[in-house]
Amino acid sequence: MKHVLEALEDRRASARLGGGQARIDAQHKRGKLTARERIELLLDHGSFEEYDMFVQQRCVDFGMDKADKIPGDGVVTGWGTVNGRTVFVFAKDFTVFGGSLSETHAQKITKIQDMALKNRAPIIGLFDAGGARIQEGVAALGGYGEVFQRNVLASGVIPQISLIMGPCAGGDVYSPAMTDFIFMVRDTSYMFVTGPDVVKTVTNETVTAEELGGASVHTTKSSIADRAFDNDVEALLQMRRLIDFLPSSNRDDLPEWPSFDDSGRDDASLDTLVPDNPNKPYDIKELIAKVADEGDFFEIQEAHAKNIVTGFGRMEGRTVGFVANQPMVLAGVLDSDASRKAARFVRFCDAFNIPIVTFVDVPGFLPGTAQEYGGLIKHGAKLLFAYAEATVPKVTLITRKAFGGAYDVMASKHLRGDVNYAWPSAQIAVMGAKGAVEIIFRADIGDSAKIAERTKEYEERFLSPFVAAERGYIDEVIIPHSTRRRIARALAMLRHKELENPWKKHDNIPL
Ligand code: HXC
Repeated sequence: MKHVLEALEDRRASARLGGGQARIDAQHKRGKLTARERIELLLDHGSFEEYDMFVQQRCVDFGMDKADKIPGDGVVTGWGTVNGRTVFVFAKDFTVFGGSLSETHAQKITKIQDMALKNRAPIIGLFDAGGARIQEGVAALGGYGEVFQRNVLASGVIPQISLIMGPCAGGDVYSPAMTDFIFMVRDTSYMFVTGPDVVKTVTNETVTAEELGGASVHTTKSSIADRAFDNDVEALLQMRRLIDFLPSSNRDDLPEWPSFDDSGRDDASLDTLVPDNPNKPYDIKELIAKVADEGDFFEIQEAHAKNIVTGFGRMEGRTVGFVANQPMVLAGVLDSDASRKAARFVRFCDAFNIPIVTFVDVPGFLPGTAQEYGGLIKHGAKLLFAYAEATVPKVTLITRKAFGGAYDVMASKHLRGDVNYAWPSAQIAVMGAKGAVEIIFRADIGDSAKIAERTKEYEERFLSPFVAAERGYIDEVIIPHSTRRRIARALAMLRHKELENPWKKHDNIPL
């Protein structure tokens, strides 16, 4: 028996070496960890159960029959726990054929995808790969198709997270694109459908891999990635943090962690957060930090469309999705990017039963040809649609401006907002006083005294929360320092909310 055990241990040791020590050293030299080192950091110590360690590729074309048969075939798969909760994981091993995807490599991933879906637990993919195994041709393409199909079936059922930790090219980009979140590591990761060489041939553009698809491009310009981290270790630890916010599936309860932050805590500084001058900005993230348990906030898409803030926090230990207009950037206006960003976040929260807390300070939708030509109508409608279809608890607080269509969109009472609060500084109107007066009293435009008088009149009548409160569109005008307590109580009251949309095959959100 002893020799059998030793033989097994030898085989395992050889599999763990992946593409060999030289390639592992090269990986380290680039500032990257190996697939197994990454999994070790991601999961609770000693919890990883690896599957299919001895799977080998079967390709015989283009010299592959003579190539080393490397056990594992370029991807490490299995499951383990994050703070005691089950997660499934696959990690591309760049030391084996550049992490490229073969038929057998794909089968390892699909096995884990099937297990994750069947057992209703999140799945995390760690990407560091050169796309389809070029020697395999259509077998590799078929493998991708199988992975993609499972991504779609699992969407909205279990959280799917992609972390890009090296190259991610060709077929490798589309699976992450269909997952809930994509994160990247700065300087060592890049994503593109076709690399710089093909770009040069087809469009004659000269770009580096970083310029084409580095973390800074995808977190700011394209918004493909939700956030970037400085190195592998930070990225993996942040994934553990994110998993702690997420339920295991769309049928599971939200994770509940002990909170040492009194939900009844008042914060006097909130009484002066909104400046007296209505055109002066303030940082809405300060409000989020002062409302969320221990100020803990995991921001999603922090570098893109900064005029709206999205991310996860907790109230009384349970996850909440925060969506907030940011007066510090473009006065918090809603444009196409902000609408798309928030819509996707709202839909994620709704799919996974995460209550949504919305802070509103929005002067309206951004005017201009750039926005209209860019499809503002449809992009704005995405956010409207997302809030309107959401059946999770929705608690809304208007801190200052809620003008025009943006008032309706931002989880208003009319879109089935459950509890709609306003601070006394709220101004709920069709538009700002100056713009309104210049339209209604166009004939008086030359008479500045008259215009000033009309503006004051408009401000006094409409720029307050009370016209909306008189109609019941605002449930209560609250004192700012009590915000955390009021929101926590609203969420506690809504904990067993039941609301169903009419049956349909699926909706037709304006894509
Ligand atoms: C087979 C591959 C490979 C691939 C890399 N390797 N990519 N083997 N198929 N796709 C191998 C290399 O031959 C090399 O083997 C080892 O992995 C490391 O690669 P290097 O090139 O030495 O590393 P590096 O310089 O860091 O460059 C990494 C890279 C580059 C940028 C990813 O390898 C690259 O451009 N690869 C090809 C990318 C690509 O075009 N993929 C196909 C996309 S088409 P040795 O033995 O020398 O160590 C596609 C279509 C699918 O994916 C569509 C589905 C919808």
